[in-house]
Amino acid sequence: MDADSTAMLAAALGILVAFVASLPVLRRLLSACAGGKTSGKPLPPGSLGLPVVGQTLSLLRALRTNTAEEWLRRRAAAYGPVSRLSLFGSPTAFLVGRSGNKFLFSSPALGTMNSEAFSRMVGRRTVRDVVGDEHARVRAMMAQFLRLDAVKRYVGSMDAEVRRHLDAHWAGRGTVAVMPSMKSLTFDVMCTALFGMERDGAVRRELSTEFQQLVKGIWAVPLNLPFSTFSRCLAASRRGRRAVAGVIEERRAKLERGESSPADDIVTHMLANGLPDEQILDNVMFLMVAAHDTTAAFITFLLRHLDANRDAYAKVVQEQEEIARGKGPGEALSWDDLSRMRYTWAAAMETLRLVPPAFSMLRKALVDVEYGGYHIPKGWQLMYCINMTHWDPAIFPDPGRFDPARFEDPSAIPPFSFVPFGGGARFCPGNEFARVETLVAVHHIVTRFRWKLNAGCDGSFSRHPMPYPSQGLLIDIEPIQSIQVNGNTSSGI
Ligand code: HEM
Repeated sequence: MDADSTAMLAAALGILVAFVASLPVLRRLLSACAGGKTSGKPLPPGSLGLPVVGQTLSLLRALRTNTAEEWLRRRAAAYGPVSRLSLFGSPTAFLVGRSGNKFLFSSPALGTMNSEAFSRMVGRRTVRDVVGDEHARVRAMMAQFLRLDAVKRYVGSMDAEVRRHLDAHWAGRGTVAVMPSMKSLTFDVMCTALFGMERDGAVRRELSTEFQQLVKGIWAVPLNLPFSTFSRCLAASRRGRRAVAGVIEERRAKLERGESSPADDIVTHMLANGLPDEQILDNVMFLMVAAHDTTAAFITFLLRHLDANRDAYAKVVQEQEEIARGKGPGEALSWDDLSRMRYTWAAAMETLRLVPPAFSMLRKALVDVEYGGYHIPKGWQLMYCINMTHWDPAIFPDPGRFDPARFEDPSAIPPFSFVPFGGGARFCPGNEFARVETLVAVHHIVTRFRWKLNAGCDGSFSRHPMPYPSQGLLIDIEPIQSIQVNGNTSSGI
């Protein structure tokens, strides 16, 4: 039996056990299956499939084979912009299009939801689990370290992390697997900038190992069977939580001894603001997942698209070499340098359009709601898939074509159509952090190396639900010798 069949069998078993254990859910599903009218409006068209199992296995299979967008597009073609299905044991309304995105981002009748596997591994008291004033309070604590003025201060340390990483893991090598390399880079950048963790310390190494495992189970069927993906990820989460608890204790002791200030790092800031330990723990776990894997995928797919689009690659090289020529040897990038990386950022946004790292997001109806002439009962999930508007030819003509020119004037993009960071009150607060980290990484990669896809790597990818390229995106690299600082020589591509 191959790995996919084993995973499917585990998923089927998981769903069977969930079926037995979840009779209240079943009751809800059966009443929803009836498809009857409530409050005078019909339920959205579609079907909930088999009780509890619903369409879960089919969607998981489509994600693994990277056909999930087609799978969802077929639903939208059959049922229109709002349809019903059942995922992970819950009746779900799937909304497609700009107005669906707008509704999901702005309706006060909706709360956020995480997959059950995510909640069990990361925690149930994260910023995503709280609403109203509590959400605003926790989000403000994070924003202290993520908003523009804070991010400006990280440029120097990000620059140093990227250089160190490339010296240690790229220099002197002929091939590099980009995704694992970028995961380790973004983990290091996050630990330094947000958590003030000692470089090369044992805790940082341990956390890095546990989080690489944990993120594999975010959409796993949450059944703790021996040898299942979920049980391995749960074990990694337990070890990771112990390590984070140790960090919280250490920061508390330092704060009490007067050896640190709330401005030093997020953990100390949350302690000083009286957030309970359990909530700090869950939020640190959440940030560690949210901050590094997404950005690693972002940088990886940007390099992949530049390799496949040589004109864009040449323009990025030109822009970055121009900036490099203005710097002294070893001089770090500045905020001003980043604001000159306009074309590179347009190419990065086009990458986010084509391969958004986050696949879809869930909301939960807190009360009965109406959308598009349909009734969505209280307790249902609502789902949007980021790619649906990104690949809509009416919004982005010839959507499969990589064309950074689409983003040269971002104000020309219609609202609620380009949504890689979500929107509304839940808009990703780490977007500036991700932007700066990506630009700094791309600057140093582009000015130090030339790359092309390794002949043995087909450049395809699957989703888990994070996009993961086959072989981690194996590239052949060559160091560049010819850029002359303060001179005119260009290395070309
Ligand atoms: C390319 C990189 C990233 C992408 C594509 C991304 C995407 C997203 C998306 C789609 C959401 C959910 C919006 C919703 O619920 O509708 C989100 C939420 C969030 N992200 Fe990011 N993210 C990225 C990087 C980061 C980074 C670097 C951080 C932190 C340093 C971060 C922290 C968060 C937090 C805290 C939330 C929850 C916000 C809330 O519920 O109020 N993200 N992100």
